[in-house]
Amino acid sequence: MRAVVVDGPGPAGSLRTADVAVPVPVMDEVLVRVVAAGVNPVDAQTRDGEGVSAQIGSYPSPLGVDFSGVVVSAPYEAHPTPPGTPVFGMTAFPRVGGSYADYVVASSHAIAVKPPRLSHVEAAAVPLAALTAWQLVVDTARTHAGQRILIHAGAGGVGHFAVQLAAHFGAHVTTTCSTRNLSWMRELGADVVIDHTTTPFEEVVQPVDVVVDLVGNAHDRTGSRSLAVLRPGGLLVTVPTGGWTRYSEEAAEAGVSATSFRATPDGVTLATIARLLESGELAVYVDRVFPLDNAAAAHGALEEHHARGKLVLQVSDG
Ligand SMILES: NC(=O)c1ccc[n+]([C@@H]2O[C@H](COP(=O)([O-])OP(=O)(O)OC[C@H]3O[C@@H](n4cnc5c(N)ncnc54)[C@H](OP(=O)(O)O)[C@@H]3O)[C@@H](O)[C@H]2O)c1
Repeated sequence: MRAVVVDGPGPAGSLRTADVAVPVPVMDEVLVRVVAAGVNPVDAQTRDGEGVSAQIGSYPSPLGVDFSGVVVSAPYEAHPTPPGTPVFGMTAFPRVGGSYADYVVASSHAIAVKPPRLSHVEAAAVPLAALTAWQLVVDTARTHAGQRILIHAGAGGVGHFAVQLAAHFGAHVTTTCSTRNLSWMRELGADVVIDHTTTPFEEVVQPVDVVVDLVGNAHDRTGSRSLAVLRPGGLLVTVPTGGWTRYSEEAAEAGVSATSFRATPDGVTLATIARLLESGELAVYVDRVFPLDNAAAAHGALEEHHARGKLVLQVSDG
């Protein structure tokens, strides 16, 4: 089968399509014929020797976490997603996945039936970003009616789901984005939208209960500056991994709490997200679609850090 691989840490242009063996499912895993694969920052970080690259046993290594496709084989006859079922999900994150390929294996507990109203391209854009948003906003921030929440990077893959989920559960949502995304963020349910290219957010944000920081201190010290907009005892969730080692100390000095975060595959929550997508209460936005053989261009676009919503690889015609 075809699979996009890396031969060692390198730039986007080092991605190549190779002919590799079809993976063999074990235990509770399903084998899925991939129609589309979502592109996530962790894929580019792993390609570059960061991300989950410590999990790479040997090169060439496959890449990719998110997929949407059709089940080819299931662990037993009466399995809930038998062969022929359209499913979407995640590989065994944070191990190195392999969804940038014609076939992928995934745990039965990390997939859900694809919402019928979504195309495979749309569905492939969902799993890691939407689960991250759910686990941030619902599980970690415990969002609820009346909560005041600031979400940085509302226009990104995780952010556009996080804004919608926080609004769906009744929070007062403030988000940051660039000029071209201001009206889109309001359409997704944000109450206050701040243009990070013109306005320092800490000059206009009223105190909030929670900050979900999807930018981090790598850009404009967004994490450290966020401490000033939290109410006493509020919570900062710092999502990008690494780069800001002193977040706990800085938060304690500011009189607020802080936590890092790790996304987890979760087929049950993904099925809940699927129901919201099917009913139209949640929407996925796909910015651009690239052919599998041009994964390098997708990574190049991702690394410009201004994708609107998600980037997706089209692996087959369906
Ligand atoms: N810890 C975990 O388990 C976990 C899981 C998922 C993701 N992450 C991390 O979370 C971060 C976000 O992931 P993602 O998939 O949402 O990334 P993404 O889709 O690549 O984010 C791109 C978005 O960032 C926005 N942006 C860039 N600079 C900004 C700034 N200074 N202020 C506000 N917005 C800004 C851009 O909006 P504009 O064009 O409007 O500026 C763009 O829409 C990444 O660092 C990723 O590695 C961590």
